[in-house]
Amino acid sequence: MDVKNGVKIIVEDVSKSFTTNGETRLALDHINFSINQGEFVAILGASGCGKSTLLNMIAGIETCENGRILINDSNLNQPERHRMMMFQESALFPWYSVIENVMYGLRFKRGLDPKTYREIALYYLATVGLKNYADHRVYQLSGGMKQRVALARALAPNPQILLMDEPFSALDASTCEQLYRDLQRIWNSKKKTVVWVTHNVREAIVLAQRILVFSPHPGRIIKEITVDLPLSRTIHDTSVSELHDKIIAILNKK
Ligand SMILES: Nc1ncnc2c1ncn2[C@@H]1O[C@H](COP(=O)(O)OP(=O)(O)O)[C@@H](O)[C@H]1O
Ligand SMILES: [Mg+2]
Repeated sequence: MDVKNGVKIIVEDVSKSFTTNGETRLALDHINFSINQGEFVAILGASGCGKSTLLNMIAGIETCENGRILINDSNLNQPERHRMMMFQESALFPWYSVIENVMYGLRFKRGLDPKTYREIALYYLATVGLKNYADHRVYQLSGGMKQRVALARALAPNPQILLMDEPFSALDASTCEQLYRDLQRIWNSKKKTVVWVTHNVREAIVLAQRILVFSPHPGRIIKEITVDLPLSRTIHDTSVSELHDKIIAILNKK
C-alpha cells in the first residue's frame, strides 16, 4: 500500500462544550481514537452529536476544550493545505468555469507555470469523470456534478488528509450510488487518509474501512466497527444490509 500521502491522526481525550444564553451544554465527551495513514474512517451519528465540531477540530478551525489532536505526532501545526475540507454545500464559484474552480484548489501551490496548473486540474477532473466539462460554468451543472467538481478541487493540491462533512447528503440516492462507486475507486488508487462524517449508516458501511459510531448528544464513541468487506460494495449488498441492521440496533440501544 502506498502510504506516502497518508498521515496518522490521534484524537486524545477531546471534549467540547458550547455556552448559549448562559447555558453550557456538552457537545463532545472525552473522545479518543486514532486513524492510520491511508485509512478511510467514518464518523457516524445522528444530527447534533458533534460530528462537524470534531471534524472542524481536526481541521484546526475549532479549538479543543481539553485533550489534544496530533497529526503525524505534532500538535496540529502543519500548514492548512495538508488537510482539505469538503462540505455538504461546496463553496464553488458558480460564475467560474469548472476548471477554474479546480485550479482555485491549487492556489497554495506557487511557482508552477499556467499550463501545469491546467494539466493538474484536468487530471483531477478526469479522475472524477468530468474532463469534458472543464469549460462549463458551475451553475450549469447538477448537484452531483458540482460535488464532483468540489472533490476534484479538494484532491488537486494532493493533500494528505481529506476531511469530508456529509458531502453527499443533499444528493439523490442514485447520484450518491454513482459517487460511492467512484469514491471507492479514487480512494483505492490514491490511498489518502479520509475522515468521512455522515449520519447515513449505509454510506458509512459502503465507503469506510472503520466506523466510529457516536451516541446522540453529547457525542461519545459507543462502538468501533471494522468493515471487513471487499471494495466495490454497494448499498444493496446483503453483507452491507446485515451490518446496517447491526449498527441500527446499536444506535437504538442508546
Ligand atoms: N458555534 C456553536 N455555538 C453553540 N453551539 C454549537 C456551536 N456549534 C455546534 N454547537 C452545538 O453542538 C452540538 C453539536 O453540533 P455539530 O457538531 O454541528 O453536530 P453534527 O455535525 O453532528 O450535526 C449541537 O447541539 C450544536 O447545536
Ligand atoms: Mg454537521
